[in-house]
Amino acid sequence: MNLLIMGLPGAGKGTQAAKIVEKFDVVHISTGDMFRAAMANQTEMGLLAKSYIDKGDLVPDEVTNGIVKERLAQEDIKEKGFLLDGYPRTIEQAHALDEALKNLGITLEGVINIEIDPAKLVERLSGRIIHRETGETFHKVFNPPAEGYDEKDYYQREDDKPESVKRRLEVNIAQGQPIIDHYRAAGLVHDIEGDQDIEVVFADIEKVLSKLQ
Ligand code: AP5
Ligand code: MG
Repeated sequence: MNLLIMGLPGAGKGTQAAKIVEKFDVVHISTGDMFRAAMANQTEMGLLAKSYIDKGDLVPDEVTNGIVKERLAQEDIKEKGFLLDGYPRTIEQAHALDEALKNLGITLEGVINIEIDPAKLVERLSGRIIHRETGETFHKVFNPPAEGYDEKDYYQREDDKPESVKRRLEVNIAQGQPIIDHYRAAGLVHDIEGDQDIEVVFADIEKVLSKLQ
């Protein structure tokens, strides 16, 4: 299956993507994860991305389009299919993706759109913690790791600080609607209620994907 997962920052894209990948064996492509890996390795691209990400702004389209195009051209994508998480984020990126897929002879089969009231997202992002060793995402209140966990084993994302969160929400709300409209016109969008327990959200996604399979 060739899929997108969309939703505002904190909607639960990464959380659900991990479950989808496990169950449906597609390749998870998260542009945010790719940028964070490049930042950790202090590559040229990582340093450039950091100057945007820490402020909550989008990395320029030409950089983002380039890394996605390169990743989609790899062998495993044709074998397993993909789940793009966090891309496209601008209508220009959506057009670049259409073009890249066309050139590769790949058809997009579905867009999972996680809907949630933006007012709920600050709480989600400010409580998010990530396990240093595995990279797994948790939440201090909504999805805590095992009881008695050691806080030192977890970290918070730099862009989950209040100033960046505010900017991320503004940017993503402004850019998001035309992209959803673009895919809705193609009949690809499946809306999922995001303000439910993680397992309930996943059950709803599973129903959609089982039909697409
Ligand atoms: P990216 O990493 O994609 O961040 P984002 O879109 O802001 O989304 P998040 O990863 O913050 O949220 P999520 O939806 O994955 O939620 P999660 O599952 O973790 O991008 C980061 C930055 O990189 C961007 O700001 C930009 O600068 C740059 N970038 C990336 N892609 C780009 C692009 N295409 N173009 C340009 N720039 C780009 O869940 C959040 C928390 O809530 C967790 O703690 C989780 O445990 C909890 N939670 C999840 N689901 C539930 C639930 N149902 N109930 C209660 N809690 C829940
Ligand atoms: Mg994410």
